Amino acid sequence: MAIFNLGSINADLFYRVPHLPAPGETLAATSFARGLGGKGANMSVAAARAAARCVHIGAVGQDGAWAVQRLMEYGVYTQHIVTSDTDTGNALIAIDDAGENNIILYPGANRDIPLEHVRTALDDAGAADIFLTQNETNLQREAAEIASAKGMRVAYAAAPFDAQAVQDVLPLLDLLFLNEVEARQLQEATGLPPEALPVRDVIVTLGAEGARWHNTDTGEVRAFPAVKVTPVDTTGAGDTFTGYVLAGLDRGLPMSQAIGQAMIAAAIMVTRQGTADVIPDLRDVQDFPA
Ligand code: ADP
Ligand code: NA
Repeated sequence: MAIFNLGSINADLFYRVPHLPAPGETLAATSFARGLGGKGANMSVAAARAAARCVHIGAVGQDGAWAVQRLMEYGVYTQHIVTSDTDTGNALIAIDDAGENNIILYPGANRDIPLEHVRTALDDAGAADIFLTQNETNLQREAAEIASAKGMRVAYAAAPFDAQAVQDVLPLLDLLFLNEVEARQLQEATGLPPEALPVRDVIVTLGAEGARWHNTDTGEVRAFPAVKVTPVDTTGAGDTFTGYVLAGLDRGLPMSQAIGQAMIAAAIMVTRQGTADVIPDLRDVQDFPA
């Protein structure tokens, strides 16, 4: 059993600056760091760190070999990451001394994945596998259709939120991940609250308040309180949560236990500065003081 994740891969380029640059200003950064990012890559790393076999489907540019290498080192299966002529997706992140930031996001190769490539990658997948995607690549609907036709469980994380993108895949979904704001935006767009969506399992994350799981088959709603920690950097918490839930399900855990592990993993994540490079592994989660 495996998770096939059609997802983005980004270079996160962090520039520390004395203040955010004004129009026309040239400003020297006081430090620079390059990290692995992209919501897709984050979720693949989380799933792999949570001991699932995770096959990443995506694209980088000629400049992206290091990102593929790093995904591989984290245990992600990288044979279905294609190298394209478009540059690797990247995020240019300026952070000032007060912690304010500016971000320029360039989707690059992430929005340029060939359909034939997705088809080939999913040739290896079967009904026992999970398909996952988010809204940072092209071909979300097409890939979900292929996965659904194979009888795979189809999961979607509705981020970055786009009402049309979610509605395009909604009829194909078995699992939907939303944060509180996304859940509200989807309700505004469709008129449907989470419990009325045509998706069996809807999980709404609530930041420091934890998460709610709606099983629309039984009408049951379960609330999961967050693990109490002191937040340092909340980026990547949602992606870690999603990767962990799906890895747990792929490893045969019932939903409540999968969410329980994801809750701990995401809490550890908010105590760490950084994204893909600091996602906790299953050992960190199991060793976490109860
Ligand atoms: P997103 O990052 O997608 O907006 P959330 O902010 O809802 O998602 O966070 C996802 C999950 O991360 C939450 O369900 C929770 O388990 C965990 N989390 C987020 N913030 C905190 C926090 N301050 N303390 C503990 N856990 C947190
Ligand atoms: Na973090």
